[in-house]
Amino acid sequence: MYGVIFEFLRDYVIERHGGKETWQVLLEDNGHSAYKQFFPVAEYPDEEIVGLAQSAAEALQLPLPVVLEDFGAFTANRLLDFYHMYSDPAWKSFEVIENASGSIHDAIHKHNPNRKPPCILARRDSDSLLVIHYQSQRQLCDVAKGIVRGLGERFSESLSLRETQCMHDGAEKCIIEVSRNTDS
Ligand code: HEM
Repeated sequence: MYGVIFEFLRDYVIERHGGKETWQVLLEDNGHSAYKQFFPVAEYPDEEIVGLAQSAAEALQLPLPVVLEDFGAFTANRLLDFYHMYSDPAWKSFEVIENASGSIHDAIHKHNPNRKPPCILARRDSDSLLVIHYQSQRQLCDVAKGIVRGLGERFSESLSLRETQCMHDGAEKCIIEVSRNTDS
């Protein structure tokens, strides 16, 4: 996973869960120096970010999926700002999701053929219903759901989510239905 995601996790822990000291404890709990830096475009093992999120969940006494989803919601804004060149200012939640794989993730990974970005296919069933098919060896559908929630907040859209099948239950991919209240 790219270091930029670790940086966002650090910002999330610092802003939402107790400041720098908490982050330093999480780093040490995971065998790092308290002052470890992650470089945005460098790659780090996926297990390291899951380990840090797991430690955060234990410290907060919350289930890991809850923390991953909350982190996803926090991160959506930052992803859009950090990678603003890959999205269109006219897009709202549905358009960002529809372009997440084909335009955004693929562009970010263009020069790195070894990466395996998540596969996110979105089908618009109606103006108010988008169905997402998520598949990734990392099985981070909770982060995906959080990102969708974060997009709703960013664009002031009222979105409801329902995961109808999940890789954690043995399905080959997760299916997430996103309903948009068109009055919002
Ligand atoms: C502006 C929009 C977006 C940007 C810039 C962005 C960027 C990124 C980046 C840089 C990563 C790390 C990839 C790696 O290190 O290999 C990532 C991972 C991820 N993204 Fe996005 N993303 C965006 C939108 C979305 C959306 C809309 C979804 C879901 C609907 C999504 C779901 C995920 C998930 C779940 C991961 C974790 C990795 C995995 O599951 O394999 N992203 N994204």
